Amino acid sequence: MSKEELYEPGEVLLSAGEIAEIVARLGQKVSADYASRDLILVNLLKGGVVFLADLIRQITIPHQIGFMSVSSYDQGTSSSGAVRIADDLDADITGRDVLIVEDVLDSGRTLTYILNMLEMRSPRTLEVCSLLKKQSTRDSAVPAVKYLGKEIPDVFVVGYGLDYNERFRNLRHIAKLVIPSEL
Ligand code: IMP
Ligand code: MG
Repeated sequence: MSKEELYEPGEVLLSAGEIAEIVARLGQKVSADYASRDLILVNLLKGGVVFLADLIRQITIPHQIGFMSVSSYDQGTSSSGAVRIADDLDADITGRDVLIVEDVLDSGRTLTYILNMLEMRSPRTLEVCSLLKKQSTRDSAVPAVKYLGKEIPDVFVVGYGLDYNERFRNLRHIAKLVIPSEL
């Protein structure tokens, strides 16, 4: 058994019920703000997929969804520094109202890169909806998040789509990853 298999979800940061409340609030806000707009939600795979699936069921106005596959973390819990686009969006966003749906904002590097890339395609508006934002981003030059679920401490979290080496995406809650210190 490798060391990493001993890493386990620990303290619950957000219960399934708390997540549901947050997602409902965000869905209502987006529905009100984008009524009669040409809304396209751009989801960043794979971490954001569970959030997107719940969010669209709280949105009551017409909209389209699209996906981009990006990664800034190759493995583990520290950033590799490089942003890689594995799959680009297949929809034309020119003149449209684009809302990026992201799971968690950490260094902000991924989002900064994506925002610059999408801005060049001349959307009418370009905003961000992120379920989580780490407190460590407070003072750094991270992009503004118009719709934020919750600010969390600067810890590595798993569950509700968020993984550690592809594990724990299936948890209904969001938990702190426990790395046994004796390893
Ligand atoms: P950033 O570019 O440093 O902001 O990293 C953002 C991306 O890294 C997120 O979209 C996640 O996919 C991943 N990530 C950052 N923090 C965590 C975490 O605590 N758990 C799981 N994935 C994370
Ligand atoms: Mg992500």
